[in-house]
Amino acid sequence: MYSSTENMDIENRVIRLMRQSDYESVCELSKSIWEGNDYLPEIFHQWVDAPGLFLCIEDKASRQVIATAKYSYLEDGSGILEGLRVHEKYRGQNLSWHICTELFKKALEDRKNGITTQIVNCTHITNKASLHISTKIGFSIRKRFLVLELDPKIVHDKFLDIENWYPTFEEFINQPYFASTEGLLAQNFVVQRLNLTLFKALQKTAKFVKVNGCPGFYDNHHGWYNVALDPSPNSIYDWLVYANRQPNVPDSLAFITPDPALIEDVKKMPVISWVNYEPDLLYLVYASLEYPSVG
Ligand SMILES: CC(C)(COP(=O)(O)OP(=O)(O)OC[C@H]1O[C@@H](n2cnc3c(N)ncnc32)[C@H](O)[C@@H]1OP(=O)(O)O)[C@@H](O)C(=O)NCCC(=O)NCCS
Repeated sequence: MYSSTENMDIENRVIRLMRQSDYESVCELSKSIWEGNDYLPEIFHQWVDAPGLFLCIEDKASRQVIATAKYSYLEDGSGILEGLRVHEKYRGQNLSWHICTELFKKALEDRKNGITTQIVNCTHITNKASLHISTKIGFSIRKRFLVLELDPKIVHDKFLDIENWYPTFEEFINQPYFASTEGLLAQNFVVQRLNLTLFKALQKTAKFVKVNGCPGFYDNHHGWYNVALDPSPNSIYDWLVYANRQPNVPDSLAFITPDPALIEDVKKMPVISWVNYEPDLLYLVYASLEYPSVG
């Protein structure tokens, strides 16, 4: 399915595999996404070569890429639909639906063949179009996290005591954070269930330390994030301060379990949420083995 010679025509557009030579066109598309803060150009070349399926819609007249979507394999055995983009000039024309259903066919085939254990997707609660498309396919919300960042109006000059930390998998998986998330880890806008494969992947990229006694780590996964593994209002704040103090780590975010008592206490810290402390990162799962009935 979707070899470099197999394309699907939709009126004056074509759905086809992304190519390395589409880079400039994708950068142009990305300029209109999230005020130019889209991560797609950064990981574009890696995604073209990665396993899974990276599709685009090309406008035949302008020969520009006007929509993108990626199907990837996660360390926890899930297949994830990600990287959905439609150029702002071409929105409202069903393009995201066309490209998502093509990706979804591959995702479901993998699921039926036991290549993946489930199909997942993550989005932000304010992204109504994305949420609508996911729920229309048949995904349902499995878990919510609250996104936090440092209050940019405040100088965060708190003293932090830093100790090296080299956890074993056993020690890592038994941290209180994983009890509160039912074993899930929010790596920015990708959520996975912690297993040994994921831990080994983190060991290659993440920095593990104890900040004021709280073990945790910071990492980059389509953007910087940090995790206080023994989460309390103070440790969440300390970890945000620590991660954002590191060279070349802009805007490291925390994704916390939306426990109401914890949220009330976090509100007293010099941090901000994106949507008035509403749990805003949504983790969605497609549980069925059947094709969606809509189309
Ligand atoms: C999300 C995105 C890809 C959707 O693009 P699009 O396909 O042109 O969007 P459309 O306007 O055609 O809307 C798609 C569907 O969402 C629905 N929708 C759009 N806005 C909506 C809203 N505010 N509330 C509810 N539904 C909405 C549309 O009605 C349509 O559904 P339908 O086919 O059942 O009628 C596009 O907005 C985008 O690129 N955004 C920036 C990147 C992004 O957020 N990607 C998703 C990351 S999770």
